[in-house]
Amino acid sequence: MSITTGDFRAKITSASLLEKKKHHELITCLTAYDYPSARLIDEAGIDMILVGDSLGMVMLGYENTLPVTVQEMVHHVRAVRRGVKHALLIADMPYASYHVGMRDTLRNAVRFIKDGGAEAVKIEGGEKRARIVERLVDAEIPVVGHIGLTPQSLHAMGGYKVQGKTLKAVEQLVRDALSLERAGAFCIVLEGIPREVAAMITHELEIPTIGIGAGPECDGQVLVFHDLLGMTFAPAAKFVRRYADLGSAITNAVLAYKDDVKSAGFPSEAESYHLPKETAAALSEIAERKHALR
Ligand code: KIV
Repeated sequence: MSITTGDFRAKITSASLLEKKKHHELITCLTAYDYPSARLIDEAGIDMILVGDSLGMVMLGYENTLPVTVQEMVHHVRAVRRGVKHALLIADMPYASYHVGMRDTLRNAVRFIKDGGAEAVKIEGGEKRARIVERLVDAEIPVVGHIGLTPQSLHAMGGYKVQGKTLKAVEQLVRDALSLERAGAFCIVLEGIPREVAAMITHELEIPTIGIGAGPECDGQVLVFHDLLGMTFAPAAKFVRRYADLGSAITNAVLAYKDDVKSAGFPSEAESYHLPKETAAALSEIAERKHALR
């Protein structure tokens, strides 16, 4: 049975994503970090919304995603939750929120569901995270895996580098994907890997793969919302397609506002409020009387 919402669009669930894979219907996913973007993305009919820890760089100006805290993530997940009706809402577990013991991992994941209103969590890493995935699934928390170029492994990888280029690395990626699926993940993000490898993994798995820099054979695609809109400051990665240049649009709007204020062109008569006629008349009478008494 599919759950329907007020405007009769079906609510996206982990089960409906599996159906989409079965029917070769490509899946759409974007990041969102706040209420307005979440609303716009949800109303445009995107299937999955990810509150990615990329918000640390995009929204908070950190150099990488490592400093992002659970507290910061939950704050943004709650804002996004208020803007989402149909899409499946996923919260990214930040670095160190699932690396230092199972009790902490569970507590942190539960916060995203109970306090944040997320419907699933995403964790980075393959085979070595299988036990965590099992425990989260046991606790009724749906899990999205994430393998390949995993930004939280920045130091371990020695930089943001495309992964899975050697035969050994390809075999490891396939093992990673299969063990996450076996552990109960309902979907896997494939980031920064050759398209041939992503195609092979997508073919091997029953659960959907969502690619970012992983070529067109994945079951779906994800992009960072601000990359798609041209609102990030670093040079875009090869896999980013810019659909708008809102960065320039915003700069031009702010410059025009600045000019208008400085030249007294803003606000205009039409943009100003006025007193009611009687009050204005009474006020000018008082002013005239005061003037006469001087
Ligand atoms: O943090 C993020 O935005 C992500 C996506 C790019 C997959 O993990």
